[in-house]
This record gives sequence, structure tokens and C-alpha cells, in this order.
Amino acid sequence: MSQDHETLDNLLRENRTFPPSTEFAENSNITADLYTQADADRLGFWEQQARELDWDTDFTEVLDWSDAPFAKWFVGGTLNVAYNCVDRHVHAGFGDQVAIRFEGEPGDQRNITYRELMGEVSKAANALQELGVTAGDRVAIYMPMIPEAVVAMLACARVGAAHSVVFAGFSAEALRSRIQDAQAKLVITVDGQNRRGSVMALKPAVDEAVAACPSVNNVLVVKRCGNDVTWGEKDVWWHEFVDQQSEEHTPLAFDSEHPLFILYTSGTTGKPKGILHTTGGYLTQVAYTHRVVFDLKPDSDVYWCTADIGWVTGHSYIVYGPLANRVTQVIYEGTPDTPGKDRWWDIVERHGVTTLYTAPTAIRTFMKWGDELPGSHDLSSLRLLGSVGEPINPEAWMWYREVIGGSNCPIVDTWWQTETGGIMISPIPSVTATKPGSAMRALPGIGLAIVDEQGTELGDGHGGFLVLTQPWPGMLRGIWGDDQRFVDTYWSKWPQYYFAGDGAKFDDDGAIWLLGRVDDVMNVSGHRISTTEVESALVSHSSVAEAAVVGASDDTTGQAIVAFVILRSGMDGADGTELVKELRNHVATEIGPIAKPRQIMIVPELPKTRSGKILRRLLQDVAEHRNIGDSTTLADPAVMNLISTGLEASSSDN
Ligand code: WT7
Repeated sequence: MSQDHETLDNLLRENRTFPPSTEFAENSNITADLYTQADADRLGFWEQQARELDWDTDFTEVLDWSDAPFAKWFVGGTLNVAYNCVDRHVHAGFGDQVAIRFEGEPGDQRNITYRELMGEVSKAANALQELGVTAGDRVAIYMPMIPEAVVAMLACARVGAAHSVVFAGFSAEALRSRIQDAQAKLVITVDGQNRRGSVMALKPAVDEAVAACPSVNNVLVVKRCGNDVTWGEKDVWWHEFVDQQSEEHTPLAFDSEHPLFILYTSGTTGKPKGILHTTGGYLTQVAYTHRVVFDLKPDSDVYWCTADIGWVTGHSYIVYGPLANRVTQVIYEGTPDTPGKDRWWDIVERHGVTTLYTAPTAIRTFMKWGDELPGSHDLSSLRLLGSVGEPINPEAWMWYREVIGGSNCPIVDTWWQTETGGIMISPIPSVTATKPGSAMRALPGIGLAIVDEQGTELGDGHGGFLVLTQPWPGMLRGIWGDDQRFVDTYWSKWPQYYFAGDGAKFDDDGAIWLLGRVDDVMNVSGHRISTTEVESALVSHSSVAEAAVVGASDDTTGQAIVAFVILRSGMDGADGTELVKELRNHVATEIGPIAKPRQIMIVPELPKTRSGKILRRLLQDVAEHRNIGDSTTLADPAVMNLISTGLEASSSDN
């Protein structure tokens, strides 16, 4: 946690606070009472939130924690998630409300009402059933940000199949390992996606992955770009097969603990973890947090969460939370710089976006691009701004507030994880006086503490490890196929607490400041990537003998990946620049372009302790151009000199 000291110094000086305007607070029916209610009766509070959903069979118990850490929420209750997100709004008379305002990168637009969405989801559900998908099966989804991706997820939920969405930027290899781990029966994908003004084929990666996955019976392909595709026996066109299905589909009710989805995320080892989420508790928490954190007004808001469905933010705050709350939302397919670097602000203006939820890395990128771009658009429709994925530095927070929000919109900095399912720490915009850079406090219903190494709770003015002290409805129910890893990863450092892996501090007013990961996980543009995963990718290349990877702080992406590699003997004559390029591409092939190291340094040795553990802290000093810190535990004290002198020739920044 080498950045901590800077962050801590910084926040000691942070004394600006921004209370909600009287107007904002008066127009909200969410008040500080929520904290009082939840404190008085936590389970009763969650029960009340669950009652906002439509249950087929009522639950008989709010929480069964007898088999901790395996929780059961809303025991005995049954419901259908897709029905809750779509049909019930149509039955309540909102069939003509637009659910999705889709905008493709080339500029094509499509408005989909809740009634139309119900028809699309029903057709897709019928199609899945005709392809033999039944409750309890797994379906992999490898798609860009188009409406069919949302329809595919909801169709899975409707028939009780767990979806496993794999980010479309991941490689064929990453897709293959996820399909195999979950033993998916069906893959839903597209021919290609629009990125930066050109068509990027996706189907070839699926073909490559599926060739090694006998569990897959069919591949359902949406025609998005019309690019040429190789057609195999398992392939089925969406427009031929789904479109001819009936728009009627009777949703079945599933147990509150029925699996809803698996989403893979990085941990400290090289093998991604399949985070399992279930039905009733998850939907309860994402709907509640979306309603409260975004001060939702379903009749007038135009909501836009810029995340991708490949990440948990897309699951919880594009698909399930917002649709359960009958939101009207923008979905945009492409990149923020196409055709111009003001594309987002153009979208906000044209669609009259009221609520924007994005990531600090994007905000910092826009800061670099300059104030003129947002300045050339009318952004006055905005009334609330959100941030997620990594700590937001006070400078970016202030820029977001002033330049995007016109100093007129509360900012909610929301802390949560793939594992938590929904937001855990955040201001309530109508209640909280926010501080730039702080996620402020736990939401009503959430039990949280900051503890020291011994698990002792720390008070205001102190920093340590962030833990969750009480089970919560949206919590992960396990790691797919690996209960032991679930217990070991999250519930063993202090068995009574969930260990999030983040450092945090309470300031003197009790506001929470997140201080980054305390384990070997990097946060690159809000995406978690494990150092071990990148190291394994590097050593799988024939020229690499050993590799060590660290996250170095980066002005735009938060952290950037820096790798140190030792070449196999006989590679001394290799062209360093060429090899570095090849290794970066190799990592992209193994994991995906987001895991490409910013920099690879070819070194003769790695700094190790006498027991052989790599001292990443020292490598981080090198990567961040600092003086090398305490190296007294090194087995060979000369090694850091060797590393520093060998660097110039081998580093690469592109
Ligand atoms: C990790 C979870 C939650 C959806 C996106 C990322 C970091 C997340 C914040 C925030 C500081 C944050 C944490 C966390 N993180 N939000 N507001 N402030 N850090 O989900 O990939 O599961 O990553 O992202 O380190 O543990 P994820």
C-alpha cells in the first residue's frame, strides 16, 4: 500500500463538504430516517425492501445464517426476476414507457418500450427452451452493448438458467476457460461489434473457444454488423430462430436461492473465480440501492450507466436494479471518442440524461481531453452524478462536479465489488454532505467496520482493513464449484467477518476513504486483474523463464500493469523491443487487451527474500520511479542494482 501515505496526507487537508441543495433534498422522499429504521431492525428493514418486489410465494424467514458463510435470504420465497424487471411494469400500465434508448456507435437508434421488451424477452425465453436450455443450466453470453445482450440475460433469468457474461474484450482463451468452468450449454454472441468506427469480429473467438468446449450444444448469433462469419453445425442465427418464436411466455417462479448468474473475477491466484449470485436477495439489494443511491424518479429520469454488461456494474446497475425500478435508460454501444471526443456529452444532451454513472478512469480521460468538449454541449438535464470502480481522486471529483455537473449535481461515489452484488458504501444524495474523494458511509442495512491485523475495530481517524460485519442480501453465495476457496478467500482472515481485500480509513468525521487493494490484485481502469494471472500468461510464452508483475500508479487508469521478466537462457541475443511487443500481444491473447502490460522490463534477476518470495514492493518502487526502499530482506542485495542498470534498453511504453 505504498500510495497510502500520499492519500492519507491528502485527505487530512480535505475539508470541503457539499451538502445537497435544499431543492434536491426537498424533491426527494429519501431521508435520514432510512438509517434509523435499518439500525433499529436490520432484518425488518431488508424484509421491507424485499416487499417492493413481486413474489409468487411469500418467504417465511428473512435470513438463515445457520450455515455461515453460506447465506439463505428470504427463505421459501419464489419469484421470477425477468417478470419483476419487465412484465410487472407492463401489467401496472407502463407498457408504453421506454425502457431502453439504444444508440449504436454508427448512430443508429432504437427505443424499446417495456411492452416491446416483454415481447423480446419472451421470444428469447421460448428460443432458449427450444434449444434445450432448462432451469439450472448455464449459458455463456459474449456480446457487446446492444439491446439483445440485455434481452439474453433476462431470457436466461426467465427460464432459470444462470448466465455467465464474458466481457467481449476478453480473448478466446479467457472465454474457453469460463465456458468450461461453468459447463455452459449455450453461447450467445454476435457476428461483430462496432468499435472506434470499424467492425470488430467477435464470432471467430467464439468459434475457437467452442471448438474446445464439448458442453456447448449451440451458439446463438445476433447479426449486428453483417461481417462474414464461418458457420458451423452448432450455430443458429438469432434473427431466424428467436424472431419466429411466440411473444407469449409464462415465467416460472424460482426459489429465492436459485442461481441467477455467475460472473468471473480476478483474485490473488491465476485462476478466475466464478462469483455466484442468486435470485431474491440479489434483486432486493440492487433494486433498493439503485432506488436510494440514484434518488430514482422513474417517471422523469433518463438514466445512463456507462459500464459494460461484461462487468458486475452492467449486471446490477444496467440490467437488474434499473429495470426492476422501471427506469428509462440509455445504452450506448461504442467508445467515447467516436466520431468525436464529445460523443458522451452529445448523448447526454440529445437524450436529456438526468443521471450519469461512470468510472474515475473515464472522468480523468475527459479531464485530459479538455473542458471545451463538454462545454460545447448543454448538460443542464443532469441532476445526479455517480462514480464506481476505484478511488476517485479529489481533483477528478471536483472536475466532475464543476465541469460536468455545473456545480449543481450531487456526486455519489459508490464502493462495492462483484462479490457484494450491489452498492455497500455511498452517500445518499438527498441526505449526505459529501467530501470530494470519499465514499462517505455504509448504506442503511449494511454492517461495516475497519479493523487492524488482529481484527480489532478501529475508530475515527484510523485506517486498516475494510470488512463487512453482517451478511447482506446481495452477497455472493459462493465461488462456482469451489466452496473451500470461497471460505479461504473471504472468511478466513477473521472468520466472523467478510474480508473485502481493500484498505480503508475513517477520517475524523467518520467518513470512509478507500485506499486501494491490500492483496496482489491490481485495479486498472476499474477492472480487477491479478498479478499472478498476468505472470502466468507471461511465463506461458516460450521465451520467458520468470515474471513478476506489479500495479504502478497511473494518472489515467489508476493503476497500470508493469511486468519484469527474466528470459530463458539462449534468449540473450533476442531483439528486446520486438520481444517486448510480442510479450504484450501474448498477454492480450491469453487474457485480453485490458491486461496488456503498459511496460515490460527485461531483467537479469528478480528481488527475492531468502525464502524465495518476490519482493514486489521494491519492483513497485522501480515501476513508479522512486528511490528503492528497504531492501535488507533481499537474499542478494546486489540484485536491485542489476535491475536498475539493465532497464533502459528493454523498457517500452507502447
Ligand atoms: C474493487 C471491486 C463495483 C463495481 C466495479 C468494480 C474497487 C470499487 C470503488 C470506489 C474505491 C473502489 C475496490 C473493490 N472499488 N468501487 N468507489 N472507491 N475503490 O468491481 O471488479 O469487483 O472490483 O474495486 O478495490 O474491491 P470489481
